[in-house]
Amino acid sequence: MIGTDIQEAKRLLELGELVAIPTETVYGLAANAFNAQAVANIYTVKNRPSFNPLIIHTNSLERLLEWDLTLPEGMLALAKHFSPGPLTYVIPKSNRIPDMITAGTSAVAVRIPNHPVTLALLASLPFPLAAPSANPSGYVSPTQALHVEQQLGNQIPYVLDGGECEVGVESTIISFLDETPTLLRHGGVSIEQLRAILGNVLDKPGEAGDEIVTDNPVAPGQLARHYATRHPLIHDNPHLHLANYAAARVGILSLSTTYEHIPVAQQKVLSATGNLAEAAQHLFAAMRELDAMDIDVILAERFPQEGIGRAINDRLKRASVR
Ligand code: TXA
Ligand code: MG
Repeated sequence: MIGTDIQEAKRLLELGELVAIPTETVYGLAANAFNAQAVANIYTVKNRPSFNPLIIHTNSLERLLEWDLTLPEGMLALAKHFSPGPLTYVIPKSNRIPDMITAGTSAVAVRIPNHPVTLALLASLPFPLAAPSANPSGYVSPTQALHVEQQLGNQIPYVLDGGECEVGVESTIISFLDETPTLLRHGGVSIEQLRAILGNVLDKPGEAGDEIVTDNPVAPGQLARHYATRHPLIHDNPHLHLANYAAARVGILSLSTTYEHIPVAQQKVLSATGNLAEAAQHLFAAMRELDAMDIDVILAERFPQEGIGRAINDRLKRASVR
């Protein structure tokens, strides 16, 4: 069921149920991080491999101290600018954080999401929320309550509706485990913004667990498509591939260009003015809409590799057939 009742979400979470929650990045599939059965249910509902750890969400840095976490200097410097916000910090875990959250590793990922509904919910709860993106493992992340309801609605009691997500791609993940901070996933905060505050930041996207998941047990070692659509997606200059398909059977994901001969409804222009933040906001909904159409292929442009354009290209690359 979809609704806007924060009290109902709180009641269900306290009972150990799963509730989908809005954030500024994507919708999360939330559970009491301190309730082992509830956390196990996240893995079941998402069909997520147990070795892929979860981000815990709370509403303030002070709460993290209550759970015996030690916050690195660099994290504190970033938090002044980006928390609440689309930035996740990987830091050493404390004994209070269950091993199931961290997939048995000694590090935990923490984030303060910037959404008024979810901040109010988190402030009312005595525990943090473990919350991966609220999509079946491997599929495109949801940026609207309806996306969650359509895919997981029959498995969870409540989707807390906070409207369309403003950022539209997941949080940036930065690790403070090594001497030099390391970016593990491009997202809502750009590496340029991180470097402006920290100086050196290593760029190692793909270190996060998403990359190592295989979708085909008979071909172990193959990289899975993540953020993947049902239809094959090619992430390259569409002009180089158009000749290989009937124009009527092509879907397009573009920044601002329209393509001749392709039906207009099958062309998703993410920002008419070429604004990358606007493009990111609409990316996942556009991928879902194209996926629902009767077409053979999605041709996705390469976006400018700067700012949040890096996160867009990263998601499209992982969604693409390689
Ligand atoms: O924007 C977001 O971060 C959204 C919203 C709901 O907050 N959440 C999200 O969660 O994207 P998920 O589970 O879909 O992606 C989290 C990523 C995974 O790739 C996971 O492997 C990585 O974070 N991760 C989680 N804990 C980690 C840890 N301790 N060390 C390294 N990577 C970690
Ligand atoms: Mg995810």
